[in-house]
Amino acid sequence: MEENNIILTGDRPTGPLHLGHYVGSLKNRVALQNTGLYEPFVMIADLQALTDNAENPGKIRQNILEVALDYLAAGLDPEKTTILVQSHIPALTELPMYYSNLVTMSRLERNPTIKQEIKQRSFERSIPVGFMTYPISQAADITAFRAKYVPVGEDQLPMLEQAREIVSTFNRIYKCDILVEPQAILPDNSSCSRLVGTDGGAKMSKSLGNCIYLKDDEKTLKQKIMSMFTDPTHLNISDPGHTEGNPVFIYLETFAKDEHFAEFLPEYQNLDEMKEHYERGGLGDMKCKKLLNNVMQSTLAPIRERREEFSKDKGEVLNMLRKGTAHAVEVSNETISLVRKAIGIDYFNDEDFINHFVNI
Ligand code: TRP
Repeated sequence: MEENNIILTGDRPTGPLHLGHYVGSLKNRVALQNTGLYEPFVMIADLQALTDNAENPGKIRQNILEVALDYLAAGLDPEKTTILVQSHIPALTELPMYYSNLVTMSRLERNPTIKQEIKQRSFERSIPVGFMTYPISQAADITAFRAKYVPVGEDQLPMLEQAREIVSTFNRIYKCDILVEPQAILPDNSSCSRLVGTDGGAKMSKSLGNCIYLKDDEKTLKQKIMSMFTDPTHLNISDPGHTEGNPVFIYLETFAKDEHFAEFLPEYQNLDEMKEHYERGGLGDMKCKKLLNNVMQSTLAPIRERREEFSKDKGEVLNMLRKGTAHAVEVSNETISLVRKAIGIDYFNDEDFINHFVNI
């Protein structure tokens, strides 16, 4: 068998992408794409977004282009990465139907990501069935493309666990090896795997209003950084401060390089020296935020500029999506044929079935 280098990952188009998406997965995808060693697929997961937005499809519709622009701005190259729209891939609605028979309700209820999201959304007792079962749909996303690697943040690990279980159950019951067990590719810096919000909340999330978006303009970015939560015990500059759990330092940990110090704050050689000063006392939050603003502006400016460039020809962006989606339909339809064959329901192409049927 050929070596499997297929990558699949995706994002819900419920808004433009933020820094959490970028460091958790998007940056990794671009790096993996640029090695030239992989065959990457990246999905705009509009079906998944609809699972808790059924009454608000306009929001999803409006964000398809936003997310596509964010992808291109971050450096995904449609010549190297297939960018696709989930709802237009028939396999992704068919496979979940087969897979849902292999998963119990209690297994879904135990999924930690789902539990957490239910809490956040205050569904009370009226959780949509589609929402509850989206881990099954996500397993379909991954397996339809026979993907081996899934670059994601740590919050998605339970989804991958669920997908691997479905794969092994399917292959065992239908006595085949057509589905591929996926593995996560996590960011190597642990503060990236689940980036905190600007309010210090556990996760950057649109619904919590604590996001920095890739498309934020210079002024908005600065405002968000200047009003970031820091160490509440660090009242006077001379007080000793805490860097652990302090969002300003978590972001610096994630984004600041030694070159940034040379350029913007040469009194320190690196972040360790700066942290040491903050912890000892005598370094004010304002100065830290100013550095962070410089670091973030220089990190995000190229992305912002590329976004503006791509926004000039939205027709071209749409064509890119159309082309990527068509390619994805082809690849995933091959999986559908194999799956139907494995289950034994491809009646009209199955010689044994046809002969038997005709002869009785
Ligand atoms: N659940 C992912 C998120 O919320 C989005 C997603 C949909 C995804 N399908 C996927 C991620 C397949 C990885 C693989 O960010």
